[in-house]
Amino acid sequence: MPRFGIVVAAVSFVVAVSTSTASAAQVPEQSEPKRGVSVSVEYAFSERPLIAVAHRGASGHAPENTLASLDAAGRLGAETVEFDVQRTSDDVLVLMHDTTLERTTDVVKVFPDRGSYRVADFTMAEIRRLDAGSWFDPAFEGETVPTFEEALDRLEELDLNLFLEIKEPKLYPGIEEEIAAELSGRDRWLETASPHRPDRLVVQSFDWEVVRRSKELLPSVPHALLGRVPESQISNHAWAQMINPNHTTIDKAYVKRVQDAGLTIMPYTINDRSRMDTVLGWGVDGFITDFPDVGQQAIAARRVESRPSVRIVKPPLSLFG
Ligand code: G3P
Ligand code: CA
Repeated sequence: MPRFGIVVAAVSFVVAVSTSTASAAQVPEQSEPKRGVSVSVEYAFSERPLIAVAHRGASGHAPENTLASLDAAGRLGAETVEFDVQRTSDDVLVLMHDTTLERTTDVVKVFPDRGSYRVADFTMAEIRRLDAGSWFDPAFEGETVPTFEEALDRLEELDLNLFLEIKEPKLYPGIEEEIAAELSGRDRWLETASPHRPDRLVVQSFDWEVVRRSKELLPSVPHALLGRVPESQISNHAWAQMINPNHTTIDKAYVKRVQDAGLTIMPYTINDRSRMDTVLGWGVDGFITDFPDVGQQAIAARRVESRPSVRIVKPPLSLFG
């Protein structure tokens, strides 16, 4: 039976696709993205990395900002995850997106008499008692809110990179210093990536002043401004390496403006495959998605499309005995 393979004309580029049904030589279909399928992309020395960052972990597959969502990201072939860091009343850094606990935990059931459910008003011991998984799916019952330390430990085990968002820092004065102190005690996170590999760590926030202070504390670490920096101000913000706006607020010209100023750009949060294809066509450096598996498929397809040296041919049958 005839079989097909990818022949790479120059020794420069490999796309490896691993699925339960597809052979290693097949390229994922563009029209029908499959969720939960792992795709990994190997970077040639001469190519810039394109990254599908797993937003709040792989939060389309598992409860956001939990260890389960980090595990899911690793399992689905993500290289980089994003998560949000806040602080408890007894000064423990934890993963949480909202500034209150109601949406993603059972806090109202466990503490029915508390007037407010702000992260900042709960101790770590109290937060430990919360179920952070059931709201997403009963299969995740018992999942807890992880500390920042626990999350870093898990990323180290999984060998995943990190986009760390300092969430609402005005509520947590000095949080950037605590984050920097924790990271500085772990050499791995301060490593500088080679130019053609994804960054080990990016620190980001919607609060650009805090991004600036964090950059002073962690000068070797790339930093990102979240939100849309006005065109006229982009060059003034070149001390940050990256601008990550909401994808609905930008267009191709904006991507070019950012890159012409020497910064990179990875918009958030894109879950639709055709939108991923659109922003990749604009030349973004990556994007942030709840579905890193679909994102990896979009990136793999984009790389094949944009490389005329890659062609699909029918090899001699003798190659397969
Ligand atoms: O990484 C950027 C993105 O996470 C910002 O939006 O609200 O999901 O934290 P949000
Ligand atoms: Ca975030």
